[in-house]
Amino acid sequence: MRFICFFNQFNHLLVKPTGRELNRRKMACSRYEYVKTYEQDDTILPNVWIVIRIDGKKFHKFSKTHNFEKPNDENALNVMNAAATAVMQEFPDVVLAFGQSDEYSFVFRKETAAFKRRSAKLLTYVTSLFSTSYVMQWTKWMSVPLAYAPCFDGRVVLYPSNENLRDYLSWRQADVHVNNLYNTAFWKLVLESGFSNQKAEERLRDTLSADKNELLFQEFGLNYNNLPAMYRKGTILLRKRVISSGDNDEKGRKAIVPLHEDLISSHFWKSHTEILGKYVPGTYKASEALPRLVDLQLSTKQEQKQEKQEEQENPENLAGIS
Ligand code: GTP
Ligand code: MG
Repeated sequence: MRFICFFNQFNHLLVKPTGRELNRRKMACSRYEYVKTYEQDDTILPNVWIVIRIDGKKFHKFSKTHNFEKPNDENALNVMNAAATAVMQEFPDVVLAFGQSDEYSFVFRKETAAFKRRSAKLLTYVTSLFSTSYVMQWTKWMSVPLAYAPCFDGRVVLYPSNENLRDYLSWRQADVHVNNLYNTAFWKLVLESGFSNQKAEERLRDTLSADKNELLFQEFGLNYNNLPAMYRKGTILLRKRVISSGDNDEKGRKAIVPLHEDLISSHFWKSHTEILGKYVPGTYKASEALPRLVDLQLSTKQEQKQEKQEEQENPENLAGIS
């Protein structure tokens, strides 16, 4: 916050003060201004990946209140994805975002100068923009009304090397796998086999991944690998040039696209070289229908383009508005 003396700011609106009065105000200003020096410099080091991770506050309660499907609610996850898209639209320096459950990580490119790299500014802006966008997006995806304001906390973590950044993202994606496999088995036991929560927990205690896969297959006929990739891998948001079938524009239209790929594999990093390399968005070729998240972005852009064109063609309409 820039420190501006309140009196000086509105001087011109006041009855002309006497010289003595002016002197008094000047002194008041300089006397208090020293408090500015108590502010801490939180500028982030140069040349590091900046990761901001936000996490929903008490989402076990929030998901219960809003009747989220167990263990994964596709629409609720899409509210998260849409809120994260809004953050990426605001910050072009976010090269990748990764989300799962009630959390999202935003990766700022190493050279970003956003908010002069001031940690608190970046963190608070991303967290509050995510929270308000979550609320704004709610009715687009959910049929139940929002019962109360959701809240998110956030943290800033810095990674000096590409390897550290990849390991961080691998850690978050491995977390999706561990949690989702457990939760899928847990809720199958509770909802389909009538286990109490405690009994289901006991049944799964000390089991390995292979045991849970086997249980799902043998007892419920479910091949875990056939579950939607969004549930198993989380969502990676990248900026791409979208080329859909029947598109005349060969360059494609810029949008933020959701991917559910294995980012632990080196194949992912070879396919999306723009993340670690010189930043030029890659292409996203849609063989099937575009995900709704992308469709919404493109149709909003199209509407804005049309509005602008209409304004240019009929400037007299604008004059009427003012
Ligand atoms: P704090 O983050 O410490 O405030 O606790 P929290 O209750 O938010 O728990 P945590 O962040 O560890 O985990 C997120 C919780 O959100 C999960 O344990 C679930 O209860 C809930 N959740 C997130 N996504 C879904 C979903 O798609 N379906 C359902 N049923 N629950 C979900
Ligand atoms: Mg949480």
